[in-house]
Amino acid sequence: MTIQLRLDTTYIHDSRLGAHALPEDQIAGLHGRLREVLDEIANERRAGQHRFRELPHLRIQVDEIKQIVAEYKDQTDNLVVLGIGGSALGNIALQSALNPYGYNLLPADQRKGPRLFVLDNVDPVAFEAVMAFCSEDWSRTLINVISKSGETAETSAQFLIVRDRLIQALGEEEARRRIIVTTDPAHGTMRGIVDREKYRSLVVPDGVGGRFSVLTPVGLFSAAMCGIDIDGLLDGAAAMDQAVSDPNPATNPAARIAAIHHLYMERGKRLHVMMPYSQQLKDMADWYCQLWAESLGKIRPSDGQNVGPTPIKALGATDQHSQVQLYREGPNDKVITFLEVEEFDVDTVIPRGFKDIEAMDYLGRSRDGTLGGLLNTEKKATELALLASGRPSLTIRFPSVNARTVGEFIYLYESVIPIMGKLQGINPYDQPAVELGKQLTFHFMGRQGYEKSPMG
Ligand code: PA5
Repeated sequence: MTIQLRLDTTYIHDSRLGAHALPEDQIAGLHGRLREVLDEIANERRAGQHRFRELPHLRIQVDEIKQIVAEYKDQTDNLVVLGIGGSALGNIALQSALNPYGYNLLPADQRKGPRLFVLDNVDPVAFEAVMAFCSEDWSRTLINVISKSGETAETSAQFLIVRDRLIQALGEEEARRRIIVTTDPAHGTMRGIVDREKYRSLVVPDGVGGRFSVLTPVGLFSAAMCGIDIDGLLDGAAAMDQAVSDPNPATNPAARIAAIHHLYMERGKRLHVMMPYSQQLKDMADWYCQLWAESLGKIRPSDGQNVGPTPIKALGATDQHSQVQLYREGPNDKVITFLEVEEFDVDTVIPRGFKDIEAMDYLGRSRDGTLGGLLNTEKKATELALLASGRPSLTIRFPSVNARTVGEFIYLYESVIPIMGKLQGINPYDQPAVELGKQLTFHFMGRQGYEKSPMG
């Protein structure tokens, strides 16, 4: 299986970057270490680690997801996902990448499924706005509660409220039918509740952390409900698995991305901007930010150093008018990753108007005179403008945005993480620093067992 995404690293080593160019021989100098890293990962994978790597092949509960979708789709106008962090960001990213912009606003017969609301915050104003849609007809609302731990305060609070409203509107029995819980297969508070209340459930597979779980029932169920081709996503991920299993770092795209970022971090470029020139991929940059931040921002056990890049999301062309001033003239501490789309699903010709006013007329006259053409021209312009200021960038090129290429992209970036983890000497799969905030919340909210402040 060949991959469709293309990685373009021209503006990493271009001589116009001057002292900021990363010469190919420096990347090649890391190849010895990268070979060891790729070998370690392959061995660890055979021993059952890096579980997310198996997901495209295991296709966990895909048949069950399709069965639930077949059962519920015609009875559902609103699908509400309750989750946060890794239990929400992938769902949001898939929806905006693979369903039309403004999907929820389309009439039902033009949508491929129910409206989707992903409630990944406990802001009461946003929450009640969604509840107002649901209360139009609770019997046509389906709730998907997603929590691996089953302990997350935000998700638990939302679940309590929604369950209460469902029971008030529909009674216990029907309310139960309108809740699907995605949680750990065997452990945790939510699994206990599923067993006791007999909720229908899906699993967050063992050994797969939240931010690596979009290709599990966590991300796949809401996607399938909304008509997204989940087989295509998994096919794309499977194709990328072959590419990122390549033991040769020179031809392995995950190893190359990791090497570039690692070497630039050693040269002080610790800010990593992901800038899609595609509205569809905007939320993929959000997903990437969590993956990068929670996985790589760590205390390195060997020397106690605080390490890790700071991921930043930007959107082209919008943020050219907001961020690019900083990216060109501010500190030269960033590496920009562009996401570029060659063929947009639709493109719009810019008409010629005001032929006597050149500042207007060139747009429609240009051979790139479509909105997609303009967007991609702006990407090229930004890339070259950054180059002129000695700012390195790389590009991931999508021939088009579809389930297959999105599956490739997700799997590619997830696969970069353990390589970066090993290069930096940290465990990318834990998130110990998130715990204190969670425990303090339990303490202040009066949870039993947390009477003593964890701050001492
Ligand atoms: O990536 C992670 O592990 C986190 O972002 C979790 O997904 C997030 O904290 C939600 O956790 P849970 O699914 O246990 O409710």
